[in-house]
Amino acid sequence: MVNSVSGFSKFTKAEKIDWLISNHFLNNAKAKANLERYWNANEGLQKLHDEFTENTISNFYLPFGIAPNFLINDKIHVIPMTIEESSVIAAASNAAKFWMQRGGFKAEVLSTTKVGQVHFMFHGNSSEIDAIFNEIKPQFFEQTKAITKNMDARGGGILDIELVNKTAKISGYYQLQVTFDTMDAMGANFINSCLEQIATTFKTCSDDIQVVMSILSNYVPNCVVRAEVSCKVEDLAVDASISGREFADTFIQAVRIAEVEPYRAVTHNKGIMNGVDAVVLATGNDFRAVEAGVHAYAARGGSYSSLSHASIENGVFKFWIELPLALGTVGGLTGLHPMVKTALELLGNPSAKELMEIVAVAGLAQNFAALKSLTTTGIQQGHMKMHLFNILNQFEATESEKVILVAHFKTNTVTHSAVVEAIENLRA
Ligand code: MEV
Repeated sequence: MVNSVSGFSKFTKAEKIDWLISNHFLNNAKAKANLERYWNANEGLQKLHDEFTENTISNFYLPFGIAPNFLINDKIHVIPMTIEESSVIAAASNAAKFWMQRGGFKAEVLSTTKVGQVHFMFHGNSSEIDAIFNEIKPQFFEQTKAITKNMDARGGGILDIELVNKTAKISGYYQLQVTFDTMDAMGANFINSCLEQIATTFKTCSDDIQVVMSILSNYVPNCVVRAEVSCKVEDLAVDASISGREFADTFIQAVRIAEVEPYRAVTHNKGIMNGVDAVVLATGNDFRAVEAGVHAYAARGGSYSSLSHASIENGVFKFWIELPLALGTVGGLTGLHPMVKTALELLGNPSAKELMEIVAVAGLAQNFAALKSLTTTGIQQGHMKMHLFNILNQFEATESEKVILVAHFKTNTVTHSAVVEAIENLRA
C-alpha cells in the first residue's frame, strides 16, 4: 500500500528521493544510486535542469546525434537530432546523401499565421453581440499594446480579431478568433497573454458575456512549410537491381496507399515525425504542440491521410510534404538549455522560418528513407543491424564481445533470439 504525501513540493531534493525510495522502492539502494548517478556533476547546470520543471529528482538523457550533408536551398546543413530510436539518424543521413547528389532539398514557408481564441457564451440576440464587438474591437488593440509593443517592433503582433458565431454547434457559443504573427517566437505565452487581456476588456462590455476560456490553438493550418525533392526518374536507379522507373512507380504506390488508407497513413506519418520530433526536441521546441497540430492537419480532409505526396510529371519524379509547424528560435528553452543553444548554433542560429524549413526537410528525408527501404529491401534489414547494439547493451556485452558479435552478424540475420544465442555461445 503506497502512502499519500502532502507538502511534497516543499521537500528538498534529497528528502523527495528518500521519501520515494522508502515508499516505492523498498529502500532499494540501487534505485537511489541510479537516480543520483544521472545528476550532473556541475551544480549550476543541475540547478538549471532542476528549475525547468517541478519536483525534479534526476535527469533523463536522450542521445543527441547529428545528420550531416543536408543540402537545403543550396546551403549545406548538419542537422541535430534528439532521438532514442535506432536507425532514424542513419536513415536521415542516407537520405541526405542520396539527395545531395540530386540537387538537394528545396523548402519554403508558405504562411506564418497562428490563432488564439476567447471562447465565450452569450445568450442574447446575435446582432447585439455583433454591435458590442464592433464597438469594442479598437480597444482590444489599444489595451494589449503593453504586451504587443516588442512584437510589433519586430514586425509581428496581432493581425486581426474576428467574432465567430458558433451557435449552430452549441447554443450561445461564440469565439473571438485572434490571428497572430509571432515572428521568431513560438509565441504561446505571448498569444495567451494577449487573449487574457482581450477577454478582460471584453467582459467589461456586458454582464451577459460569460468567458469560458482564453487559449491559443495548436492547430496552425496557416503556419505551413513545404519541402520538396525532385530529379529525373532515371536518376533514381540506385543499383542494377531496379530501374529508376520501377523504383518511382512502387514508391508512388506506397505514398498513394498512405493517402487513402488511415492504418498505413498513421505509420507513414509516424516515420515523418521521427525526423520532425528529433529536430523539434533538439532545438528546444514543443513537440507535443507540433504533434497535435500536424495530426489534425493530416485529417483536415475528413479522413486521416498522408502528409507527403509524390508524382511523376514529364519524366521528373517529385516528392513533397506540407507541414503546419509552430516553432521558435527565441524565447522558451531556446536561450536556456545549453544543448538547445548548441543545436541552434549548429544550424547557424536560424530564424523560425528557416527552422521550419529544416524540420520539414528532416521529416521528408525520414519518409523518403523509410519508403525506399520498405519498397525495396524491407525495413528490418537496416533496423535490426542498428538494433543489434541495443540488444548487446541489454546483455551488458563487453567491448571485445561487441567486436566479435558485430562481425558475426555482418553475415548472419539479426533477430533477438539469434543475438541472445550468439552471446550465450560466446560466453560458454
Ligand atoms: C519506424 O519508426 C517508422 C516506419 O514504420 C515508418 C514507415 O513505415 O513509413 C519505418
